[in-house]
Amino acid sequence: MDKIALFINGQRVFATRGATILEVALENTIYIPHLCYHPSLEHPGTCRLCIVEVNSGRLVTSCRTPVEEGMEVKTHSPKVDKAVRILVELLIADHHASCQGCPGSGRCELQKIMSNLRIDRRRVRRLRPPKEELPLESLNRCFDYDVNKCVRCGICVQTCEDLHGVSYLYFVDRGYDTKIAFFGDESKCLSCLKCTIRCPVGILTSKSR
Ligand code: FES
Repeated sequence: MDKIALFINGQRVFATRGATILEVALENTIYIPHLCYHPSLEHPGTCRLCIVEVNSGRLVTSCRTPVEEGMEVKTHSPKVDKAVRILVELLIADHHASCQGCPGSGRCELQKIMSNLRIDRRRVRRLRPPKEELPLESLNRCFDYDVNKCVRCGICVQTCEDLHGVSYLYFVDRGYDTKIAFFGDESKCLSCLKCTIRCPVGILTSKSR
């Protein structure tokens, strides 16, 4: 295999040519926040949380940027930290309620990112008080969906398409109202429940839990 060397936060690491910065960082236990990345899926680059600085200045999404020989990557810098913090605060501003009682608590990527960046949820709440909390939606006979806590990463939609060749789930509405729904006949869902397993914030819950 064609190996190359690069530097992440000054640490020399080796990588397979063609791998992305995020893959190489995670392999070397260097944490980069991410929500829409899943190792089995194409990386849509929608959440933008995996931003890093390369070669002293350029900001790139690490899940979509291949490593290069001699590349210098910073996962933290004033520019990176500011950009990621703004993105996370926007997400939190649109994210209802506390983690208490949430089925995703403990395995939630957003929780992990918040603790990594030491985000003060109360500060965000002061900037934008949450809107009315919506009831849990029964998406079909197999699982429920908490729209209040959805981060719109698209992993569930992509997973369905990847596994079944066609996605029965898709996005509806726009902006802050964007949510997932079944396309057409919900009974066509094959009940594999992979979408509930891969949801990074754990808000698709199997009814058989
Ligand atoms: Fe890279 Fe979401 S993980 S854009």
